[in-house]
Amino acid sequence: MKRLPIGILGSGKGSNCRAILERIRSGDLAAEARVVISDVLDAPILDIAREFSVANAYLPPGQFRTRLEPEAEEELVKMLRGAGVGLVVLAGFMRVLRAPMLRAFPQRIINIHPSLLPKFTGLEAWKQALAAGEKVTGCTVHYVDERVDHGQIIAQREVAILPDDTPERLHARIQILEHELYPAVIAQFCQQYRGRSL
Ligand code: GAR
Repeated sequence: MKRLPIGILGSGKGSNCRAILERIRSGDLAAEARVVISDVLDAPILDIAREFSVANAYLPPGQFRTRLEPEAEEELVKMLRGAGVGLVVLAGFMRVLRAPMLRAFPQRIINIHPSLLPKFTGLEAWKQALAAGEKVTGCTVHYVDERVDHGQIIAQREVAILPDDTPERLHARIQILEHELYPAVIAQFCQQYRGRSL
């Protein structure tokens, strides 16, 4: 079977990465994880890659806080191209991407975000939804563009906000849906890939 080669980028605990790698291992997802890359040296997502025997690397991000230094971003392009990646999957990658990546992978970079975009971009979106008194929030998978948590929406799932919710409980419920939604969206890309339109 023709498997879509993916590269996963993350900065943190990697639960979405784990969900994707588990679906691949169980045969539910016709993808092949070629590499996991993190801008954080000791990020748990890199341990998860090792646990699943997936090639992994730390990418020193340079001096900026919210984006990669241009040289680092060029290096990232090289790493992903070298690994033969056809779809770049951002899984808790907390930096905005710029021209080098966006030009190298046009409409081939997707992100998951814990809100119903366009509402509540940026950090800890579930806390923002709670503070705003929303009754419903959720998660969104979207194509990545040069703005933070912005770009064409591919799919969303809703999560009800309960009267006694805490930020932790709400984020946990959103993450349960993220772990279903992200592999399901990647599966759509796998289908296109098999049909050669990707
Ligand atoms: C996820 O909830 C994801 O939606 C969010 O980071 C978390 C990463 O969790 N991403 C963003 O906020 C992007 N702006 P994980 O490391 O356990 O997958």
